[in-house]
Amino acid sequence: MSAIIIDGKKISEEIREEIKKEVEELKAKYGIIPGLATILVGENPASVSYVKAKQKVAQNLGFYSVQENLPENISQEELIAIIKKYNNEEKIHGILVQLPLPKHIDEEEVINAILPDKDVDGFHPVNLGRLLRGNPSFIPCTPYGIMVMLEKIGCDVEGKEVVIVGRSNIVGKPLAVLLFQKRKPIGNATVTICHTKTKDLAFHTKRADILIVAIGKPKFIKADMVKEGAVVIDVGVNRIGISPSGKAILCGDVDFDEVKKKASAITPVPGGVGPMTITMLMKNTLQSAKRFVSQKKNP
Ligand code: GUN
Repeated sequence: MSAIIIDGKKISEEIREEIKKEVEELKAKYGIIPGLATILVGENPASVSYVKAKQKVAQNLGFYSVQENLPENISQEELIAIIKKYNNEEKIHGILVQLPLPKHIDEEEVINAILPDKDVDGFHPVNLGRLLRGNPSFIPCTPYGIMVMLEKIGCDVEGKEVVIVGRSNIVGKPLAVLLFQKRKPIGNATVTICHTKTKDLAFHTKRADILIVAIGKPKFIKADMVKEGAVVIDVGVNRIGISPSGKAILCGDVDFDEVKKKASAITPVPGGVGPMTITMLMKNTLQSAKRFVSQKKNP
């Protein structure tokens, strides 16, 4: 069997076209342009390239976008002061602080400083709490992108065994909640989360109808760890070298060439989950701008 390759780039482009149209409508009807502020601290190469990509897409979609490049040694107080400035700026509907942050900065404190109504990453405790209760405001972008991908390929999740490898606040935890939630079309799954202390990881991964991997270990999941016909979603983006033209060579957490022979569908890296994450950030920012419009009309 050879798997369907889930084309995250193509699905993203379709959604971006819809967003672009909505942006034009919002502008024409209400004179509102969705505004996104991205905040980068330091020069971590992966973070630099992610933020650059997010800014580029925001601009292509007609958003108002602002980029803050802050030095590695910025103090927590200074960083929080910048966040508060954007909390109060009417033209900004979404604030994204790229993670990870340098060690001297408390990530929790920084996330807590973002106004929940502008937290387009969905990382603020208020937004995570709403997600847990089944009434989300902003769905974290990577889990959101995975949900949309599963929906687009017509994957029937209900009652299925989903195994998520990785328990991060950004991917594993929120994704588990979304997939077991009483929710259609993507929900009602039986979800297992595996992590570094899981005994016999392969026992769990081999049971998965849908296997989602977010651990940051290049080609870690091999074919003998995957059930025949499984849907495999690879969230990993690992930099394994530099090409002669100076570009990073990327691979996922799944051994794509091996596993694609066994899976029924699989996401590639690059071109799978990555573009979806950026697209859902734009969707959340648009949603935030629309909410500001409705609040203005009905204060
Ligand atoms: N670092 C890795 N993924 C993400 C993300 O989705 N949002 C932010 N802010 N930082 C990240």
